[in-house]
Amino acid sequence: MAKASSPASGVDRGRPSVRLRSFAKINLGLEVLGLREDGYHELRTLFQTIDLHDEVVLRPTSGDIRIACDHPLVPSDDSNLAARAADLLRRYARVDRGVTIEIRKRIPVGGGLGGGSSNAASVLIGLDRLWGLGLGPAGLHGLARRLGADVPYFLLGGSALGLGRGDEVYPLRQQLRAHVVLVEPGIHVSTARVFARLDAGLTPRENSNSIFFFVSRELEGTGAFRLLVNDLETAALEEAPALREQATRIRAVLAGAGARLAALSGSGASWFGLFDSPRTAARACRGLAGEGFRARVARTLTLDEYRAAWGWSRVR
Ligand code: C5P
Repeated sequence: MAKASSPASGVDRGRPSVRLRSFAKINLGLEVLGLREDGYHELRTLFQTIDLHDEVVLRPTSGDIRIACDHPLVPSDDSNLAARAADLLRRYARVDRGVTIEIRKRIPVGGGLGGGSSNAASVLIGLDRLWGLGLGPAGLHGLARRLGADVPYFLLGGSALGLGRGDEVYPLRQQLRAHVVLVEPGIHVSTARVFARLDAGLTPRENSNSIFFFVSRELEGTGAFRLLVNDLETAALEEAPALREQATRIRAVLAGAGARLAALSGSGASWFGLFDSPRTAARACRGLAGEGFRARVARTLTLDEYRAAWGWSRVR
């Protein structure tokens, strides 16, 4: 199936190549309700897309599915989720064409920002259009679920509630507009190991309703970010003890600069802060850089902005 590529091999000169932006997500809140029979966890999470993105270029070929990525930690073979997405769609739609997928990485790898899942969704959306299949997000949803729990969210984007494994996704009526500071501690945390660690210590507990409270307060116009929790944080800090030492310092800088919310994204290891103004976000960024952290500013993308960004550009 997928082969590491010299990008030009077998290029179908008759068809245009397309470039898509593949955006990152953060989890504003994440509640783990329990272990499911399929081994996954029942979740309630609030997803949010941000404007930090990878670039995915799809070049039609007459041959196989090939992949090329500029990041050393991203596999360029069958195991790459973007290649699996192309293969799954090709078999599902019985398409007899190839594609070379080039991924230019900007989203930190293994940071809880959904980069791999986003790339896979971009490939589904892009090939659906390139191959003229007309499936759209609704027709692609079943394939997205088979690829990973976070992939369906990237067919939608914006501020959204994720239920089930995180793959039942519903847009929020109030779409968040905020400035974001992302902090990369330079540590890679395995999502599967964080969940496994959570199971080892999972005590029966009352399900918290923080996300319900948050959503209902948002509707009343009183954003209640302090209610939100990330149930994976404790397990992630146990899994990566170096992260624990950094967590206190990162949180202190973000809170000190006026963050409305400072939290770990998903299973980590990226942290983020939400700010009302670009000025306070920039101040937080400078403070973090002063403490030796890699930090960058981003902006949330609403559902409409995300959908508008699916418009692609042709490349030579
Ligand atoms: O679906 P995906 O491959 O992205 O998930 C990575 C890992 O995270 C899974 O293999 C599983 O161990 C864990 N996970 C989980 N429950 C979820 C989502 C992910 O246990 N709802």
